[in-house]
Amino acid sequence: MRIDLVSIFPSFFDCLNLSLIGKAQEKNLLDIRVHDLRDFTRDKHKTVDDSPYGGGPGMVMSPVPWGEAIDTILESTEIATLIIPTPAGETFNQKMADQLAKQEHLIFACGRYEGIDARVGQFYKTHSKISAVREISLGNYVLNGGEVASIAIIEATSRLIDGVIGNEESVINDSFALGEMEDRTEGPVYTRPPIWRDLVVPEVLLSGDHQKIAQWHKAMAKQAPQN
Ligand code: 6GU
Repeated sequence: MRIDLVSIFPSFFDCLNLSLIGKAQEKNLLDIRVHDLRDFTRDKHKTVDDSPYGGGPGMVMSPVPWGEAIDTILESTEIATLIIPTPAGETFNQKMADQLAKQEHLIFACGRYEGIDARVGQFYKTHSKISAVREISLGNYVLNGGEVASIAIIEATSRLIDGVIGNEESVINDSFALGEMEDRTEGPVYTRPPIWRDLVVPEVLLSGDHQKIAQWHKAMAKQAPQN
């Protein structure tokens, strides 16, 4: 999968070189390209924002550099999904991660300030190289920009791609994995030592009875807090 990220803080995405996503890039399972929005400005001050039409607080991101940046990315692709992280978007969930994991190419437009001029999303909705524009929120709270949300979306999505995480079974077993496990959280987990600060590991887990252990996991997963 190819992923392009556009932001005025490209170094936010340095963390994508770590751990499993970093390894997935080395294995060429992910091709992550980070772009500085300011490289697509043409004025001396590399301006990316302007005051909102109609008044109101804060600043709005100008559509001009966004158009230049996204057009440039689209020159080197056949088809891509454009993701615009915004607290006003659809709330991200595992089903959306599944859909995104099936795409060849994702482009993330990470806004700051009060957001990106609405015409950017509007314009690319009918672009021949954009299969969908998705406005996605991480939840009901406000972040300073789309960068952290993009990283969360990339982490949830890329681990569903074959080979990105080592143990394929752990994907299937994951609490929110779709299908039978839908909307279920994982139960508690334990490791050594068997007694820690007077707290004991549930006896069944030490019993060696694999059928009983499986039943216990199932029951605990069901009673784990729902969202
Ligand atoms: Cl995607 N962006 C911002 N700025 N705030 C958020 C969010 C996104 N999701 C939840 N809060």
